[in-house]
Amino acid sequence: MSDNSNSKAVPGWVNFLFWGALAGGVLVAIFSQGFLNQPDAVSVRDELGQRYVVPSIDIIPVRNAASIEAGKDTYARVCVACHGANLEGGVGPDLSDNEWWHQPAAETNLAKLVMNGVSAGEALGPNKVPMPARGGQPLSNEEVWQVIYYLSDQNGSIQKDAVPTGQ
Ligand code: HEC
Repeated sequence: MSDNSNSKAVPGWVNFLFWGALAGGVLVAIFSQGFLNQPDAVSVRDELGQRYVVPSIDIIPVRNAASIEAGKDTYARVCVACHGANLEGGVGPDLSDNEWWHQPAAETNLAKLVMNGVSAGEALGPNKVPMPARGGQPLSNEEVWQVIYYLSDQNGSIQKDAVPTGQ
């Protein structure tokens, strides 16, 4: 009729360490396998055969003679009606001078402006005339960037801050 000597022989703190280490190990396993190795959304789409499409606003074409020339063509087709054959302005403001209503006069800012257009509420000109997004034509972002390259090639007051994402 003696006490169960085994349970008396294991002090409480040893039990605590044992079960604590076990629980800790299980948690580490869950975190490293379950969370860190979780396939991300991109590779899931890849597995499904749907390539993840980077928003095209991030795709900035290379600046070279060809892209500037393409921008010139787009300008002559879309922008000329409001900004003039020589960027001298008309319904829209002069794009050849160094006065810019929409600061900063930097490529990234102007590309955003052209993509979004200028609503009547946002218009800074004296007559509050709006500008349609992309000049009212279904221009791709690449075409907009090419026009911006054309403008900054023609007008040195535009800061050349575009960083081409490469092709
Ligand atoms: C239907 C007329 C119209 C068309 C087409 C048009 N724009 Fe505009 N654009 C305007 C007007 C009006 C403004 C000025 C809005 C304001 O008052 O703030 C403007 C403003 C701008 C500005 C800002 C100028 C500044 O001083 O800050 C840029 C850059 C610009 N347009 C580029 C373009 C480009 C590039 C195209 C062709 C893709 C284009 N626009 C097509 C009417 C037009």
